[in-house]
Amino acid sequence: MSVPAKARRRAAELREQINLHNYRYYVLDDPQVPDSEYDRQLRELQALEAEYPELITPQSPTQRVGAQPLAGFTEVTHRVPMLSLDNAFSEEEMIAFDRRIRERLGEHSDAIVYSAEPKLDGLAINLRYQSGQLVQAATRGDGNQGEDVTQNVRTISSVPLQLIGSGWPEILEVRGEIYLPLEGFERLNRDAAAAGEKGFANPRNAAAGSLRQLDSRITARRPLAMYCYGFGEIEGGPLAETQSESIRRLADWGLRISPEMRTVTGVEECLEYYRRIGERRHSLGYEIDGVVFKVDRLDLQERLGFVSRAPRWAIAQKFPAQEEMTRLLNIDIQVGRTG
Ligand code: IVH
Repeated sequence: MSVPAKARRRAAELREQINLHNYRYYVLDDPQVPDSEYDRQLRELQALEAEYPELITPQSPTQRVGAQPLAGFTEVTHRVPMLSLDNAFSEEEMIAFDRRIRERLGEHSDAIVYSAEPKLDGLAINLRYQSGQLVQAATRGDGNQGEDVTQNVRTISSVPLQLIGSGWPEILEVRGEIYLPLEGFERLNRDAAAAGEKGFANPRNAAAGSLRQLDSRITARRPLAMYCYGFGEIEGGPLAETQSESIRRLADWGLRISPEMRTVTGVEECLEYYRRIGERRHSLGYEIDGVVFKVDRLDLQERLGFVSRAPRWAIAQKFPAQEEMTRLLNIDIQVGRTG
């Protein structure tokens, strides 16, 4: 049975609208329609696809959850290695980092512009888009080889299956952090407690456990989210002249970026940004363990290059270890309950 042109047009229209609603909701944080209208459109699309299965495409917003659990995860070799970051644990170490950069660049007088954003405490992921379609999602692994978690990442509502807008490169690899917002983490642990199950120690473990599911229907029930902060392979080279501009372009294509991203000039402004984020740390709604600064100009990043597994042009200024406190408290509570 062939699909009537009218049904085909309507399905395309619904998909475009739903993708746009997702963009307004997840990227702009400014929804255009009430949830009920979004749900109505999704149901209409589902009904159309049920009537005419030929209309179903892997990119359809109805196709986020895989039907078949996997037997195991396959390995993925990263085309561009996924690196780690050097840490700074004090203002002095930040000042030394900035000084090293200026000395290397031989630009003692000029203050360096940095792109600054929170360091999310989640899991690094590489998303690969081909012709605007999400074709692969892989974990960082050892930096060279990770695991294919495409089925699971497809269930994350803020990860577009199809980029919106125009002008994206044929091949676009985007990197970012998958994390579990605190509200979702608390809900998950409440549900686990109600079912008499053991909860997760922290949001990071919960996010990692959720991504490691072989059955994507389980992942789909975990309210994971993602912020994009970097790049892997890009056909045709960089998206802009600076880190911050390149990241902003991602938002135009429907990818979610941190609303806390700022450019700061010179190390004093870095320290000021660190202090401000530190003050707001507990009202962000997700866990962060510091702030990341990246030399904003990509030509300078290239000149600075890498040492072993980390770029010379970036650093994570960490918050004082508060994590240990949390861990101790958790142990305390569990002993109380079982003892
Ligand atoms: S940039 C080459 N930006 O930190 C630089 N990383 O220790 C690559 N992370 O594996 C990382 N938030 O999982 C960058 N805003 C951010 C980040 C961030 C969290 C994680 C990431 C990475 C690890 C490095």
